[in-house]
Amino acid sequence: MNWDDTNDTAASERLVESVADREDQAVEAALRPKDLGEFIGQEKVREQLDLVLRAARARGATADHVLLSGAPGLGKTTLSMIIAAEMEAPIRITSGPAIQHAGDLAAILSSLQEGEVLFLDEIHRMSRPAEEMLYMAMEDFRVDVIVGKGPGATAIPLELPPFTLVGATTRAGLLPPPLRDRFGFTAHMEFYEPGELERVVHRSAALLDVEIDAAGAAEIAGRSRGTPRIANRLLRRVRDYAQVKADGRITQDVAAAALAVYEVDARGLDRLDRAVLEALLKLFGGGPVGLSTLAVAVGEERETVEEVAEPFLVREGLLARTPRGRVATPAAWSHLGLTPPRSQAAGNGQGDLFGA
Ligand SMILES: Nc1ncnc2c1ncn2[C@@H]1O[C@H](COP(=O)(O)OP(=O)(O)OP(=O)(O)O)[C@@H](O)[C@H]1O
Ligand SMILES: [Mg+2]
Repeated sequence: MNWDDTNDTAASERLVESVADREDQAVEAALRPKDLGEFIGQEKVREQLDLVLRAARARGATADHVLLSGAPGLGKTTLSMIIAAEMEAPIRITSGPAIQHAGDLAAILSSLQEGEVLFLDEIHRMSRPAEEMLYMAMEDFRVDVIVGKGPGATAIPLELPPFTLVGATTRAGLLPPPLRDRFGFTAHMEFYEPGELERVVHRSAALLDVEIDAAGAAEIAGRSRGTPRIANRLLRRVRDYAQVKADGRITQDVAAAALAVYEVDARGLDRLDRAVLEALLKLFGGGPVGLSTLAVAVGEERETVEEVAEPFLVREGLLARTPRGRVATPAAWSHLGLTPPRSQAAGNGQGDLFGA
């Protein structure tokens, strides 16, 4: 499998980052749900996919192409493997960045068996010529292999066995419409609810043979940013702590103490997230302040603040991006236990933004 090169940046060493590192990849294989019944949450997607796959099975046909979109760590790779398992079909795994030339794709396509699932991760990062070849393969199960160059070049059509393409992307918006339209079923994965993440934690704890109580699981789930991969990662760190500092059993106190050591707070914010919020509140009175200024204040690159810290802060309703700059919301003040300046509390500061 091909992993994004951003994996090697400092950002991915954060415990709450949703990108998989090497340790994750090994453990993830063991913790992956194997069929739809084991897959937690995403009710709508599960119900729809179940229908698609059942109907195909009943017809004795190959399932329609499936596009899975959603943030990292929400279960796209997992679902692709489940699709193959449910169809009792083999699966071939590749990724957009691994396909440099159309010829690479032709080689893969022409070696597929009938009914095989082709999982194309990061499908939005495929090259243009490969993409065009894929259009025809998806629609007509045919590719044109170009032999020769210049005016003498000829296209030799090659029939392909029917297969199921499962494409995954974190950026559905970047897919060209002709490609998007060729998928028979598109599933958008949402962030998970705390209750669903609790079930993920319980399930993983059982597989890892760790004892955990309900409050312990809830504590980990609440700090997992709606993401199963992060829930599993936090669980492993809490397990370490429980083994060394407690009797191995994970309770709420053990989970909270462990995650305090790793600087993951009650809402799932880590050191960088909190540094950004603290600077915004303490140095700039809650904003508005420009991104560059904010980045200098926390000693980070502009991009790090914008791409690593801000998306989650915005999603949590702690920070807003406005035309005049970054602004803290009332929730940010209360999360850090600070009192907003009087002008804001009175509603004439950023009151217009929050309808206070
Ligand atoms: N619905 C789920 N139920 C239980 N565990 C899950 C679920 N979804 C994901 N996981 C766990 O989270 C881990 C990460 O999921 P997965 O690798 O499928 O994410 P992804 O969407 O492919 O991420 P990326 O975009 O980084 O490739 C899996 O190993 C699995 O253990
Ligand atoms: Mg994946």
